[in-house]
Amino acid sequence: MLVLEEAAQPTLENENIVLFTGNANPRLAQSIARYLGLPLGSALVGRFTNGETRVRIEENVRGAEAYVIQPTCGNVNDTLMELLIMIDALSRASARTITAVIPYFGYARQERKTSGREPITAKLVSNLITTAGADRVVTVDLHAGAIQGFFDIPVDNLYAMPILVEYFHRKNLKREELVVVSPDAGGVNRARAYAERLDCGLAIIFKRRPEPDKAEVTEIVGEIEGRTCLIIDDIISTGGTLSAAVDTLLNLGAREVYAAATHPVLAGDAINIIESSRVKELVVTDTIPVPSSARQGKITVLSVDALLGEAIRRNYFNLSVSKLFG
Ligand code: R5P
Repeated sequence: MLVLEEAAQPTLENENIVLFTGNANPRLAQSIARYLGLPLGSALVGRFTNGETRVRIEENVRGAEAYVIQPTCGNVNDTLMELLIMIDALSRASARTITAVIPYFGYARQERKTSGREPITAKLVSNLITTAGADRVVTVDLHAGAIQGFFDIPVDNLYAMPILVEYFHRKNLKREELVVVSPDAGGVNRARAYAERLDCGLAIIFKRRPEPDKAEVTEIVGEIEGRTCLIIDDIISTGGTLSAAVDTLLNLGAREVYAAATHPVLAGDAINIIESSRVKELVVTDTIPVPSSARQGKITVLSVDALLGEAIRRNYFNLSVSKLFG
């Protein structure tokens, strides 16, 4: 469970803190600000006619602790440039410290070379954020924990797990019939942590990618027949991994299949793929905005506002962030 007992004190009212957002997920930024009882700072974040990003911080930030809330999602190159330029603007305006709050860290799936002559773009992005002037990064469920080491500044990698686990606890699914499924070998540790918290079994799907953005199931380990399956992933991008996993599990005799993922990238035709898949429900968080039209079908959206708000409050007062996770 997310531990929020100390949430009421100390509060940030009358402290020297400012929160800003770009255009990536203003709704989440507003609810984090509401959680903290603070207004969002005033900033112009737009475009010049030639397409370049234009930023102007419209209030005094001298000596303040500044937080920029901006996932690098949607048009990822634009939202990344907004983040970098906002950090640069705050640094030149003499903010005392700048924390980049990046609920979804884009380019994270390019964190290693899988064949010759490939970049490590996640490292390049980490360098850019540091060079722009960030003193600290707060993020949620990094695709690979090792990305923390790409930074030479502190990184708080928060977990959405307590929020998602609590949701499934409230469904009262019978634990002896429930099995958590990792949709690929890379997600086994994450899925095991969920299985421990939900006190149920674990299964693993092995997949291959014959080409980028295509997923094919190769093998599966674990008891599936007659079970309620819960696929746990960090990202739903094209929806290919999810729909291949759902079909495999149902073909093996699963009774029903739920899925949960932290980051709803929902690229291309993903929403239609999910709606026409046989998944019973997909639960995601709002690290990335989900269009309201997509919230009426199989997709349920839970908020990480309190998680990020608490992390900001604890950072500001130098309180433990790991304590948040009990
Ligand atoms: C892969 O390593 C990730 O954990 C996700 O499984 C993947 O990003 C999902 O992508 P897609 O929805 O395009 O299959």
